[in-house]
Amino acid sequence: MTQQPPPAGPADPPDGPATPDLPDRVVRIYGELDLSTVPAFAGGFINFGYWSGLPGPADRLLTESDRVRSEEDLYRLVLGTFDRPQGRTALDVGCGRGLGCALALREFGLGTVIGLDAHPDQIARARKANAALLTASAQTSGRLEFVQGAAQRIPLPDDGVDCLFSVEAAQHFRDLAGFAREAARVLRPGGRLALTTFFARTRSAARELPALLPPYTDGLDVPHVVDEVAGTLTAAGLREVRVRSVGDGVWEYYDRYMAQQPELRDDWPRRYLTAYETGLLDYYLLTAGAG
Ligand SMILES: C[S@@+](CC[C@H](N)C(=O)[O-])C[C@H]1O[C@@H](n2cnc3c(N)ncnc32)[C@H](O)[C@@H]1O
Repeated sequence: MTQQPPPAGPADPPDGPATPDLPDRVVRIYGELDLSTVPAFAGGFINFGYWSGLPGPADRLLTESDRVRSEEDLYRLVLGTFDRPQGRTALDVGCGRGLGCALALREFGLGTVIGLDAHPDQIARARKANAALLTASAQTSGRLEFVQGAAQRIPLPDDGVDCLFSVEAAQHFRDLAGFAREAARVLRPGGRLALTTFFARTRSAARELPALLPPYTDGLDVPHVVDEVAGTLTAAGLREVRVRSVGDGVWEYYDRYMAQQPELRDDWPRRYLTAYETGLLDYYLLTAGAG
């Protein structure tokens, strides 16, 4: 087992990428390599987690259930930005295994949650992981759905979504402007967007990050600059775009959790904390309104 994604290998699938909407490295990481099975993550989620609400002494040993809770809490942080979500229609862009969609339905009273992911394997895993909620006899039947599609080409009609959220997926998006346009299109007037992930703090930081973190060189992530992401949302017609740094609840604990892992194969996953502390990168929560 490894503690982080394996190094980029040579092989693309022999018959080409599984989807034209994703770069090859993203196809592999969420296809055959199934990133959610790497022990840096837990519980089927794939995010660095938001650890601020962790119970007990700050310096105690962190457990796997703390790790799962941190990943759920990142979803709770995002979903908590929506005012009165009860009964509304929500869309999770880059839903992975769809566990955040189930949490949204369970804890936030949403009427319908649609999980969107560009990778067909992730959609298959989401349907499997949430099979009990999807069965015709379940109370949630018809209220949860998983759809294959790309952030930059959302296969949904105009004005059908009240709450659009995305958790740790936008660092993969090559076409952020396309995503912003699609978000503005599918949101109803008055709808809200909440997006969280890690971005470069400045343009010069974006140039430095690839030397520190292999995912920026192997084709997995893009060092988007946070102010440019906010500007892209505004340019697409979203309003009141707000940017909040939430890195103080992410990096230190994630690094401590990783430091506890006996099988850490190499040290680069620990460099996210360095990147944060030296001002190169941060974790952000962006919110905006539509219409
Ligand atoms: C780091 S995982 C996060 C999954 C989930 N949100 C979570 O927190 O557990 C990123 C997900 O985004 C998906 N993804 C990457 N690029 C995408 C795109 N352009 N459109 C839609 N989904 C994308 C990947 O397939 C993957 O499932």
